Amino acid sequence: MQYSTPAHPLHLGKPENPGYTAYKGHVINPISAQAYEDFVNGALVVDEHGTIVAVGNYEDIQKEHKIDNVRELGTRLITPGFMDLHIHLPQFPQLGKSGQHLLPWLEKYIYPAESRFSDPVHSKAIADWFFKELARNGTTTAVVMTTVHQEATDMAFASAAEIGNRVIMGKVMMTCNAPAQLLESERDAINHSSALCQKWHGYDNDRLLYAFTPRFALTSSESHLKETAKAWKQHPGSYFHTHLSESEEEVKLVAQTFSDHRSYLDVYADNGLIGVNSIFAHAIHLDNADVVKLSKTQSALAHCPSSNFFLKSGVFAYDRLEKAGVKFGLGSDVAAGPQMSLFQVMKDANYIQPQTWLSPAELFYRATLAGAIALNLEHRIGNFKKGKEADFIIIDPTKKSGIARNMMLQPTDEILSSLVFSGDERLIEATFVRGHCIYSVEQKAIEATISSPH
Ligand code: GUN
Ligand code: ZN
Repeated sequence: MQYSTPAHPLHLGKPENPGYTAYKGHVINPISAQAYEDFVNGALVVDEHGTIVAVGNYEDIQKEHKIDNVRELGTRLITPGFMDLHIHLPQFPQLGKSGQHLLPWLEKYIYPAESRFSDPVHSKAIADWFFKELARNGTTTAVVMTTVHQEATDMAFASAAEIGNRVIMGKVMMTCNAPAQLLESERDAINHSSALCQKWHGYDNDRLLYAFTPRFALTSSESHLKETAKAWKQHPGSYFHTHLSESEEEVKLVAQTFSDHRSYLDVYADNGLIGVNSIFAHAIHLDNADVVKLSKTQSALAHCPSSNFFLKSGVFAYDRLEKAGVKFGLGSDVAAGPQMSLFQVMKDANYIQPQTWLSPAELFYRATLAGAIALNLEHRIGNFKKGKEADFIIIDPTKKSGIARNMMLQPTDEILSSLVFSGDERLIEATFVRGHCIYSVEQKAIEATISSPH
């Protein structure tokens, strides 16, 4: 059998007819950490509202449904979109700048970059660039930290609203221990966050959601953390997003600053900041009581292996947390993570573990469905099921040099392995959120390149 992709262009634009559109190709659908459904001659069928109508073998689907539009994708893969559980929008221009642990890195590269977001022109340019790049990387859902600036965060929401990404986002809050130009009063921090939440939380049938976002324990007073918990509880369905136990130096400072709490996690927990819809990035240096508490309260972790490599922060206790039933997905943590692509993050998740082997299927699950479960969104997204919303990507694993031309004829386990360990964003041919195409190679050809505005 010869390997072939369709000779004709993808034609992923708006369907010509109303009704059902079948994306016909090789569908891979994660089910659990160990299992996935595999339809080599498959299809994902989406209605005009972006809801999944069917997934399975095309022949079987055709017997049951009247298909109004067909998108022939040959041997290309159709998978759920990636979910990035922790990323910083304003740090995108600082990719690849390291050589220091967390705290000096923040001082040298990050706080100066975030200070520039007092300028609306800069803020708008970076936000548009960031959300287009997320789509180009196949990330359909991102949990995003912005800066302390209300106006810049408002613009970031407007960009995501227009470009079509699914986003959980919040204005960073810092009320102490930061450069003067990035400090705000506790009242402003809460009022500005609440105003943004009122305006954007739930936008477009919950495509945009709000997260109350104190940066980390060191940049908040105890009273600010308490007020944050109140604001979070006052807005049903909103999230709480922060950093937890990343670097050893940070953990020591937290222990000194908040000496009457048992652990770093307890600084948040004792102030009401734990539970369903809480997202903690990193969570490297935890003790057993912390692990039990995270599991019991159904809190979520964003595991950011590329960042942990880059800043030499330590190793996430993958096995221990998984066995304890703690919910976690993957995060790029740009710019401490040097790349936005979840392909990079998946492979680093395996490489950073000194003993544990993570299978490609498990890594793909972590980058998709596990993220949705962590965010309590698995009833809507994360994999393909009738009634869920169609957030998906089209991947051509042969789009990168060095990947065998016959790759698509190999067993699906091998295809997944090749994707995880040799893949990058060049393999992404199109990205869809709720059935709407937010990036495609065709569009890229028109735009020539998405270049850095700064
Ligand atoms: N801890 C507090 N702020 C940050 C940040 O911007 N990046 C990372 N990786 N950790 C943090
Ligand atoms: Zn971070």
